[in-house]
Amino acid sequence: MAREFTSVGVVGLGTMGAGIVEVFARNGIDVVAVEISAPALERGQATLTRSTDRAVAKGKLDPADRDALLDRVTFAVGLDALHAVDLVIEAVPEHLDLKQRIFAELDRVCRPDAILATNTSSLSVTEISVATSRPHQVIGIHFFNPAPVMKLVEVIRTVVTSADVVADVEALCSRLGKVDVTINDRAGFIANALLFGYLNHAVALFESNYASREDIDAAMKLGCGLPMGPLALMDLIGVDTAYEILDTMYRRGGRDRRHAPVPLIKQMVTAGLLGRKSGRGFYTYERPGSPVVVPDEATPVAPAEAFSEGGRAIAKVGVVGSGTMATGIIEVFARAGYEVVSVTRGAEKSASICEAVKTSLNKGVVRGKLSEEERDGALGRITWSATLDHLADVDLVVEAVVEELSVKKALFASLDEICKPGVVLATTTSSLPVIEMAMATQRPADVVGLHFFNPAPIMQLVEVVRTIRTAPETVATARAVCAALGKTSVVCGDRSGFVVNALLFPYLNDAVKMLEASYSTTDDIDHAMKLGCGYPMGPFELLDVVGLDVALAIQRELYLELREPGFAPAPLLEHLVTAGYLGRKTGRGFRDHTHR
Ligand SMILES: NC(=O)c1ccc[n+]([C@@H]2O[C@H](COP(=O)([O-])OP(=O)(O)OC[C@H]3O[C@@H](n4cnc5c(N)ncnc54)[C@H](O)[C@@H]3O)[C@@H](O)[C@H]2O)c1
Repeated sequence: MAREFTSVGVVGLGTMGAGIVEVFARNGIDVVAVEISAPALERGQATLTRSTDRAVAKGKLDPADRDALLDRVTFAVGLDALHAVDLVIEAVPEHLDLKQRIFAELDRVCRPDAILATNTSSLSVTEISVATSRPHQVIGIHFFNPAPVMKLVEVIRTVVTSADVVADVEALCSRLGKVDVTINDRAGFIANALLFGYLNHAVALFESNYASREDIDAAMKLGCGLPMGPLALMDLIGVDTAYEILDTMYRRGGRDRRHAPVPLIKQMVTAGLLGRKSGRGFYTYERPGSPVVVPDEATPVAPAEAFSEGGRAIAKVGVVGSGTMATGIIEVFARAGYEVVSVTRGAEKSASICEAVKTSLNKGVVRGKLSEEERDGALGRITWSATLDHLADVDLVVEAVVEELSVKKALFASLDEICKPGVVLATTTSSLPVIEMAMATQRPADVVGLHFFNPAPIMQLVEVVRTIRTAPETVATARAVCAALGKTSVVCGDRSGFVVNALLFPYLNDAVKMLEASYSTTDDIDHAMKLGCGYPMGPFELLDVVGLDVALAIQRELYLELREPGFAPAPLLEHLVTAGYLGRKTGRGFRDHTHR
């Protein structure tokens, strides 16, 4: 029989602690909530009140239940108030010496049978436990932010945590309506070990002016379906907390340079830009603690004004290629009212791409997404050709031919000869340097990357890639075109992976390395990212959809360009690809899809 917990203590009522108090009190458990000082206690109390009031306002909580919830919480300054509780969760700042001091004190104050838990994200639970005389009763209970919302709890057992304590805490998690994964004591556990390298990398891209904060965040939300972008997430986590987590992970996790906090993070901490809790971090908020972003000096002007200036008029568009991307891109342009010239390598290819576009448009009609007139109008705007000569008078060419540099360079050289002056030449490459294609022409200022995502008619995002030779006017034109297509464009530099792939694939590769090291299982890792971070798919689900060969190719490119040792493809990924386990398309990848 699992132990019954009737009262728990929470130490530290900051970003996490206040949410943890709410989780327990909501589930009928009495809570003693403790802070270091009266003002801090008041702040924590106010956070709890605001959060429960919000839940009432949204109709998620009955006013009577809120009152009962608040009645279950006792507030106090100092740890002595915890003398009678069954379990304590500590959620003070991420410093080992502070946590050790608190655990030594808790050991003295609390009942001998009380379980002492830490919500640390990256520190060693083992090191914290040895500050007490009862390391077998010390455990990690790692909630995710915001604690009342996120379903996941990572339960961390050390080599000395007793099995009963683990079982009791697991039962408690399910009573709280949480899903737990139980793991050993390793820096960052599952979710943060996979998350923080990505967050740090995003800050590095921002710090180097590779892309704006809005564009980095929009790219990850729209390109990967994440609930929030990495810089907004840094603000939610707290920039100071993120710094401490990265620093500990760097020191504990094998000194992976990707965890060495980017200098900007430390500067922000020193300057008091801690994120939402201080009212300003990467973004500016209405007031400290508010989730509402307000404009500041770095906020871009409204897109419509920004893009209409300096761009060229585009009416007629050429699309070269006959694959999946070309098909989608033709449809997108034709539906948005552009004249489209499709160019393939032969009449047969033209016939088949024409069929593919028709089929897709018909599906749109069946699903009620467009009318028959709109479909016919779109089809009427497309001409099908097998020769580049028909691109002589277009205003924009979008190239979506095979991902081979020699082929693309030859194509750009031909376009340079055929197209009129002032045309914008765009490539949809996802991995080749755009500057290589630009330099195959005599007009590199007119060449830009337009990285659509698959399926192009559905995915909202387009990465606009500017090379060091691209003219601002060309970028403005590309953005205006994206806006006219109803897409969100983000502008980035000409580096391997642009924004989305550069941030996504190293994370996927890290997940494979974690599996390879037998730290956890495919299911638990997928769960952790979905339930702890709100990702729409876990890394292994996503790898099986994307294709392991595709992931490996992108990861290799990133590694070769940046020479970052941490980007080296996971050997397990290489082996699976060699074995032909490429994911859903071959019936087997990380999972077997043949019987599902
Ligand atoms: N922020 C996140 O997204 C997140 C997620 C999961 C876990 N964590 C972990 O949770 C812990 C707390 O992080 P946070 O982001 O809530 O920090 P925070 O800075 O928002 O809050 C810490 C709170 O602890 C209080 N405190 C400091 N010393 C104290 C003491 N001696 N006694 C009582 N209270 C004291 C502070 O007054 C503050 O209110 C850290 O270990 C962190 O790694 C954070």
